[in-house]
Order: sequence, then structure tokens, then C-alpha cells
Amino acid sequence: MAASKEQILATLAMVGTPYGKPLPDAGVLSDIVVSDGKVFFSISVDAAAVKAWEPVRKAAEEAVRELPGVQSALVALTAERKAGATAPQPAASGRAARRPAHPADQTLPGIPGVEAVIAVASGKGGVGKSTTAVNLALGLRDLGLKVGMLDADIYGPSLPKLLAIKEKPQTIGGTRLKPIDRYGLTVMSIGFLIDEDTPMIWRGPMVMSAITQMLREVEWGKLDIMVVDMPPGTGDAQLTMAQQVPLKGAVIVSTPQDLALIDARRGVSMFKRVNVPVLGIVENMSYFLCPHCGERSDIFGHGGAHKEADRLGVPFLGEVPLHMSIREKSDAGLPVVATEPDGPHAKIYRDIAAKVWDQIKPGAAGGRAAPKIVIEA
Ligand SMILES: Nc1ncnc2c1ncn2[C@@H]1O[C@H](COP(=O)(O)OP(=O)(O)OP(=O)(O)O)[C@@H](O)[C@H]1O
Ligand SMILES: [Mg+2]
Repeated sequence: MAASKEQILATLAMVGTPYGKPLPDAGVLSDIVVSDGKVFFSISVDAAAVKAWEPVRKAAEEAVRELPGVQSALVALTAERKAGATAPQPAASGRAARRPAHPADQTLPGIPGVEAVIAVASGKGGVGKSTTAVNLALGLRDLGLKVGMLDADIYGPSLPKLLAIKEKPQTIGGTRLKPIDRYGLTVMSIGFLIDEDTPMIWRGPMVMSAITQMLREVEWGKLDIMVVDMPPGTGDAQLTMAQQVPLKGAVIVSTPQDLALIDARRGVSMFKRVNVPVLGIVENMSYFLCPHCGERSDIFGHGGAHKEADRLGVPFLGEVPLHMSIREKSDAGLPVVATEPDGPHAKIYRDIAAKVWDQIKPGAAGGRAAPKIVIEA
């Protein structure tokens, strides 16, 4: 029997809060989503009080997990900063975002067992970031690496679709989530936990809290590399994530049009600002090869991303054509690198993966061997 919202609220009534009222009466709870034994809700408090509320979040999560019929619980802590307030982080306005990323002495703890985390990002939505992330991860797998994928695009998680994952993750000992294995990749997405039809409203700090939990409360096991599919854009959520996740580098995906390139430039400068090395730019939908006559057309003006990479002084990683089979395979959960490994597209993605790995493998010039990274202001 699944736990009902009423049972959950009754349990949460036992959890005390800094406001001196039980949690359900403190006016901080979001709606409670219960789906298939998975429980999800958020606690929304003032940024200044976040520290005091973290134990409440934990207690709430633990209490709910104890309920019969609950397989897992994810409780996010939302911190909203009042207008004009100057909380140190996360950055919540464009102006704040231009401040130095971190105090000089701040270190980001690594994820136990995970050697390197890289982000796949784009300045603009819909450029093929998730498709690139999945095929890049598979290309890294083909180098003999143990690869994980985290879908950090909590606004529009796409890994359940791109990898045709319908099952829900199991919990280990009632507290940690076991990621899903697909095509040899170890995968986690918020899309595994919530209903596709459940509209989710996320605010910046809440995004981070959900992502931190997916990074740290999931049993990733030993991974050589984790590929993070970021939410599109260079807004506060992305910047916060670039600041808070121990990234070894970032891959920027762009289409060749000028408008996309302007956004890609923003992506590059965002990562540079927070001292995350940009591993390079991928030009996706670079050119169109007619599947019938084999004629090539540069629909979006091919080559722009290469020029842009040169101009910005970052590596150019490769060109992926606009091709029906990439779209069809991708959207059917059958990524080309896994399902057409001998085809021309798989080779392109594997070449991109090799260029990425060369930069971050242990001992590489730009790579950092230690699991901790230091971000200097
Ligand atoms: N090289 C390609 N050739 C053909 N179709 C592609 C290619 N790359 C991506 N697509 C298709 O374009 C659409 C958008 O791709 P995808 O979901 O990967 O983009 P995204 O940048 O992650 O989008 P979002 O911003 O919504 O997260 C999908 O239908 C995908 O199959
Ligand atoms: Mg996507």
C-alpha cells in the first residue's frame, strides 16, 4: 500500500522547526508529490535561515522514508533571498553573477568513487545538448571507461526518453538511490522520480538542492567519469550548478547559426568565470547530408562553431551532421553510438569523446588528479 499525503503530513507533524511550529504548520511546505512509492516535496525558507533548516530537511526525509509503502523520499530545501538582500550564494541575479565565483579558499568536495565530472551545456535550448551528452557518454564508454550520466536538466529531464528508461530506481537501505544501468552507463535523472505529467516549478536554490542530492545521495559506485546534462541556458540555475558541482570541465554544444553562437559564447564565458575549464565546443546539426542523394547542404551555415572556438581560444571538438537517424534513434531511446556502433555518426561521437578524455584523464595537462578541486576567485 502506498503512503497517502495525509499519512505523510501526519508524520511530518512530528518534525519540529526553527519557527517553533510543526513542519506542516510552518507555512514552508510545497505540495507533496507521491508517485509509485516515491515521495517528493520541498521546504521553502528564507536564505538567511537555510543552515537552521537543513537538519529539518534531513529529519523530514528520514521520517517519510520510514513510512510503510515509501520506497524513497527526496526533500529539497528552497532558499529564497529577499530582494536587495546580499546573501553570499548562490548568485541570484545577473549582477551577483558577475562577482567572483568563490572565496579563494573554498573547495568543492568530490563525489566518492567518481574520478571526474564534466558538464555538457549549451547557451540555448534545443541545440541537441542531451543527444550529444548521451552519445558522448557512450563514446567514453567505448574507450573502456566506467561512465555515469546525471540528468541535471530538472526542468525538462530527457534521459528517461533518450535511454528509454521506464523503471524507477530502487533504494538501498531506504536512504540511498540506486542508479539505473543502460547500455553500460550508470544513469540518474529526476525524471525517474517524478511523473512526466507532474508540472514541477523549480526556483534557483531548489534546483541546486535537488541536484546536490542526485549527486551525493545516489550510489554511483566507481566511475571514471560522470557526464552531466545541464539545463539549457546561462541563467542563475546553470551558474549556481557550475559553482557548486565539482566540475573538471565543460563541453559546449552549439548549432552553427549566429544566434546560437552568441549563446554558446555566453556559455563559454560562464564556465571561464567560475574557473571551470572549457573542454571545447561541438557543432551539432553542422550540415545536412541528404540520405537519398548524398548531397551535402549547410543548412545553418556550417563552420561557425569552429571559428568561434578558435576566436575564444577553446578546442573545437567536432561536427555532428543533422541526420534523420540521429533524431529517430535518439528520440526512440536507441542512441546511435550504442545501436549503430559501426556507422559514421558513432565514429564522430567517439572521436569527440577521445578529445574530451585526452584533456581530463589522470595526468593530462589540463586535468586535475585529485578528486577535490579548488576554485580561485
Ligand atoms: N545531429 C542531429 N541530427 C538530427 N536531429 C538531432 C541531432 N541532434 C539532436 N537532434 C534532435 O533535436 C531535438 C533536440 O535535441 P535534444 O533534446 O538533444 O536537445 P537539447 O539541447 O537537449 O534540448 P533541451 O534544450 O530541450 O534540453 C531532438 O528531437 C533530437 O533528436
Ligand atoms: Mg536536453
